[in-house]
Amino acid sequence: MTTPNKRLRVGVLFGGRSGEHEVSLASAASVIRGLDPDKYEAIPIGITKEGHWLIGAGAQKMLPEVLHHGQRVMMTADPTDAAIVRLDGHGAGQRLDVVFPVMHGTFGEDGTIQGLLDLAGLPFVGAGVLGSAIGMDKDVAKRLLQVAKIPVVPWITVHRHEWERNPKEIQKAIEKKFKYPVFVKPATLGSSVGMTKVHSRAELAPALNLASEFALKILVEKAMVAREIEVSVLGNNDPRASIAGEIVPHREFYDYAAKYLEEGTQLLIPAKLKPAQVKEVQALAVAAFRALELSGMARVDFFLEKRGGKLFLNEVNTIPGFTSISMYPKLWEASGIPFRQLIDRLIELALEQHHEKARTKYQIELPEGAGGALEG
Ligand SMILES: Nc1ncnc2c1ncn2[C@@H]1O[C@H](COP(=O)(O)OP(=O)(O)O)[C@@H](O)[C@H]1O
Ligand SMILES: [Mg+2]
Repeated sequence: MTTPNKRLRVGVLFGGRSGEHEVSLASAASVIRGLDPDKYEAIPIGITKEGHWLIGAGAQKMLPEVLHHGQRVMMTADPTDAAIVRLDGHGAGQRLDVVFPVMHGTFGEDGTIQGLLDLAGLPFVGAGVLGSAIGMDKDVAKRLLQVAKIPVVPWITVHRHEWERNPKEIQKAIEKKFKYPVFVKPATLGSSVGMTKVHSRAELAPALNLASEFALKILVEKAMVAREIEVSVLGNNDPRASIAGEIVPHREFYDYAAKYLEEGTQLLIPAKLKPAQVKEVQALAVAAFRALELSGMARVDFFLEKRGGKLFLNEVNTIPGFTSISMYPKLWEASGIPFRQLIDRLIELALEQHHEKARTKYQIELPEGAGGALEG
């Protein structure tokens, strides 16, 4: 029998300074519900849109409540301190055994929070600093995928400063490589924010200006006529892929409204594919997971061309949507890992990864007498 004080204390980070703040609240609520109370004590830690860190009186608190009336706290970067300390200096700090960052997009999924957790010496769910940063940058991810011979949609990367300085030349370069329509998207955002399907030259400049508001780099891509296939990957050194699912947006593409505001988009699980196609997406998803230095989990999204049936990797999400109806957990459920077991496994993987890192030496032992020379 597990006694209550033997339970692992799981800090669930949610909210954050990101366009996907609200999505994070929904994901975090379902992660907290999925944490088996016999094994875990959930400590919800909310980050407001301004960046304040707050904790509620108890795990039962509603998440928006934590954000509005919680206690101001901070996470210390000192691994010998309690992880969470109150800003008013009252009360003891809170120890955490492991952290589950359930924040999508900027300052959550991009390596920044992962860096703080590394400094604090805390195990955490999902990709580390490097994998998170790569996964968030669609341009760098594609370049690494190309090296690994994983097919990606043809693209051009435009730096915002280049576009602002030389729009004529950029337009020329784009039109030399692509015919309309093209997709224009910020390199480092999710939820289809700042993204435009550009049908003609007249729409190009407004699309690049819009994307420029959201990122330093912009991707211009060939518009695919394709089905959208998604696979979930789970693991560290031996990642496994789930069965495949398909997204069928009811709008022109899977934009913000189709994702969060309107009903009508269909999630098909499993996707109707030939067994050989399923094998191929699974193999590519695992290869991408390795190529991009990921750990824990990722959802890997593909385009399957309607004509020709060729597969292209579109993007990876290192903290995918995690509501009970989201693709990532749904695909695992359909592959034989129910929600609660999935959360267990992710926490196990976080602890495993932490132990693996802890085996690494970070300091060198100086030979006798060397100290004096270094001091001088
Ligand atoms: N090159 C493309 N061709 C066709 N559709 C695209 C292309 N790029 C993006 N889309 C559409 O836009 C959606 C969001 O694009 P994506 O690159 O996945 O960005 P996000 O990170 O915001 O999800 C995709 O699911 C798809 O419907
Ligand atoms: Mg996407």
